[in-house]
Amino acid sequence: MRDRALAVIAECRRIAAMSEEPGRITRRFLTAPVHEVHAHLRNRMESIGMSVRVDGAGNLRGLWKPPNASGKRLLMGSHIDTVPDAGAFDGVLGVVMALEWVEIAKDLEAPLAIEVIAFSEEEGVRFGVPFIGSRAVAGRFDQSLLGYKDSEGNTLEDAIRAFGLDPDLIGEAAVDGDLAGFVEIHIEQGPILEDEGQCLAVVTGIVGQTRLILEFIGQANHAGTTPMRLRRDALAAAAEWIIEVESLALATEGLVATVGRVTVGPNAGNVVPGTAAVSLDLRHAQDGCRASAVEKLIESANAIAARRGLALRRTDRLDQPAVPMDERFTSFLADAIEAAGMPVKRMPSGAGHDAMVMAARVPSAMLFLRSPGGISHHPAESVLEEDIEAALHVGRNFLERLTAAIR
Ligand code: GLV
Ligand code: MN
Ligand code: MN
Repeated sequence: MRDRALAVIAECRRIAAMSEEPGRITRRFLTAPVHEVHAHLRNRMESIGMSVRVDGAGNLRGLWKPPNASGKRLLMGSHIDTVPDAGAFDGVLGVVMALEWVEIAKDLEAPLAIEVIAFSEEEGVRFGVPFIGSRAVAGRFDQSLLGYKDSEGNTLEDAIRAFGLDPDLIGEAAVDGDLAGFVEIHIEQGPILEDEGQCLAVVTGIVGQTRLILEFIGQANHAGTTPMRLRRDALAAAAEWIIEVESLALATEGLVATVGRVTVGPNAGNVVPGTAAVSLDLRHAQDGCRASAVEKLIESANAIAARRGLALRRTDRLDQPAVPMDERFTSFLADAIEAAGMPVKRMPSGAGHDAMVMAARVPSAMLFLRSPGGISHHPAESVLEEDIEAALHVGRNFLERLTAAIR
């Protein structure tokens, strides 16, 4: 098992080298290196004996169907897009581990069909909306997304066509048939498991997220001649608001709120900023608390804009409610951990995952692996061999239990 664990890490690092930027891991939705990742994973899937296709939303899907397969199909997977300057394991680990579980099912001669999905998009980096791949698989793709633009002005529809796919086929990406459930394996991306000395956890639920863009619109003007009291500086207004975002999150139990992107116009050192568009990513386990936090922050943005003589434009990108994982399906994972001789740690996820979209369509469960140093969305992100080994043991136990339950 140790060799297999090392091979999993090496495989994730190999895929990490397939990047838009030399020396950094950046792989946004359907950019050129995604072709490389698809070719690599397709090879691996075919060598296991899986049949492989790419659906209209760019998800790579491998189907393992043994001759003795019962009617039900297990879905597994995670995403292969990344944030800019990412680590090697967020998302990709869940695809590589799913293929290991298929190999285990093969060894066990389990009468279970398994479809492994390498979701094309989960991070929301390129088009500002996350879960493009899993929305299509869950049958929840909204056609209006096709008109969303990336920073170069390409629409989502353009991106799908440029990749060689047909957006008219997105509807056919929706899963059908008799499904046993969906399992996503993922790094924790936080410090809790390490702090508690645990290697694995089952996820109880995933917190809700709001994503939006607020644009403060003032007046660009000469930095040398415009008196301070006559300015309508959009960036100064945005800065004031960003501090309010941080203060509200610090003062509200369970709330996390982030402004991770600021786009300033005209973005020149000697021009008073005329526009500042800032992103807001805001998360809470309770949807009511999330909604009231968003409302408060919009009120404060309006007050700041009014006081400074600015206009404000709001663009909503995501209003994703919190999602519980399926209790029965999760109990198979919990029993599998217990049978491997480990304590069962249960925890919520503060990060978003494809499982939160899949859960609307099929019973879903997640297995977390400890994140050393609690670091993620950063090149230093890592995973321990022994935790992968543990997750391989859990895979064997889980597949035995699931097969017995659906036989
Ligand atoms: C995905 O990593 C997210 O939670 O933003
Ligand atoms: Mn992820
Ligand atoms: Mn991520």
